[in-house]
Amino acid sequence: DAVRIIGVPMDLGASRRGVDMGPSALRLAGLADRLAQLGYTVEDCGNVRVPDRTTLGPAGEGGTGRDFLPSIALVCEELAALTATTVRLGAVPLVLGGDHSLGAGSVAGVATALGERGQRLGLIWLDAHGDLHTPETSHSGNVHGMPVAHLLGSGDPRLSHVSSVYPAVRAENLAFVGLRDLDPPEKAFIRQAGIAAFTMRDIDERGLRAVMSDAIEIASRGTGGIHVSCDADWVDPAEAPGVGTPVRGGATMREAHLAMEMISDTGALVGMDLVEINPILDRHNHTAELAVDLLASAFGRGIL
Ligand code: ARG
Ligand code: MN
Ligand code: MN
Ligand code: MN
Repeated sequence: DAVRIIGVPMDLGASRRGVDMGPSALRLAGLADRLAQLGYTVEDCGNVRVPDRTTLGPAGEGGTGRDFLPSIALVCEELAALTATTVRLGAVPLVLGGDHSLGAGSVAGVATALGERGQRLGLIWLDAHGDLHTPETSHSGNVHGMPVAHLLGSGDPRLSHVSSVYPAVRAENLAFVGLRDLDPPEKAFIRQAGIAAFTMRDIDERGLRAVMSDAIEIASRGTGGIHVSCDADWVDPAEAPGVGTPVRGGATMREAHLAMEMISDTGALVGMDLVEINPILDRHNHTAELAVDLLASAFGRGIL
C-alpha cells in the first residue's frame, strides 16, 4: 500500500496567519517515518506552490478573505490534479494543510479519479465548523469557511467546478462529525440539503462509536471510497491548542483515536486531509504530534 504526502502551505483562507507552517510541523513530528513503520510505501511529494499573502499586492495588504478566492482556486486546481493522479496510481493522497480552503481541491481531485471509474465519493468532514458558506453568506469572507458548500456545487464556479464531477460530492454521501460552531446560513444549508450533521451533543448523548458508525454508513452507501477531511479543531483545544480557530468542547483524544481506528477498519479510505494546524499558537509541537498519532490510527496502527 502506498501513501503520498502532499503539503499545502496555504493561509490565504484564514484571518489568522501561521497555518501555512502546518506541513512543516507535521513533517517534523515524524509523519513519514510513522507511516513507513506501518508498512506503507511513503512518498513525500513536497509542497504545492502557494503565493505568500504579502506578495499579492493590494488584496494581500488591505483586502479581506474573499479577495483571495481567485488565488485559492488556482491552488485548488493544482492540488486536485495531484490528488487525482495519486488515486489513479492506486495510492492514498494525504494532504497536509494549510487552511481548510484546500478541501475544495483535495476532495475534488479524489472525486475526479473515482468518477473516471464510474464511482461516487463519500466524504466525512471532522470539524468544529460546517465550512458551508458561499462568498455571499460568509460574514468573515474567509474561504476556509467555504469548501464544503463548493464541493456540494454551490458558490463561486471557480471553486465549485474544480472536479470533473459536478457536484464533487452529493449531500447524501456527506457526514459531518464534531460540529459545535455553525453560523445561521450554515444551519439553513444543512436543513435544506438534508445533510447528516453530527454535533458534539450527538457524541455526548450517543457516544463516538455510534455516531461514527452512522457517519461511515452514510459515506459508504453507494460510493467507491471515503475521503476524510480532518480539521484539527474538531479535537478539543485542551488537547489541540495549535489551531487557527479553536472552539471549546471538542472531541477528546480518545474519541479522536477511536474515530480514526473506525475509519481504518472500513478499508475504504481513499484520501485524507489534515488541516488548520497553526504552529505559532501551539505549545511546542504538541498539536502536530497528536495529529501524527491520529493519522497513524487512521492508517491502521492498531495496538496488537
Ligand atoms: N464559520 C466561520 C467563518 O466562516 C469559521 C470558519 C472556520 N473554518 C475553518 N476551516 N477553521 O469564518
Ligand atoms: Mn474548523
Ligand atoms: Mn462564524
Ligand atoms: Mn474546517
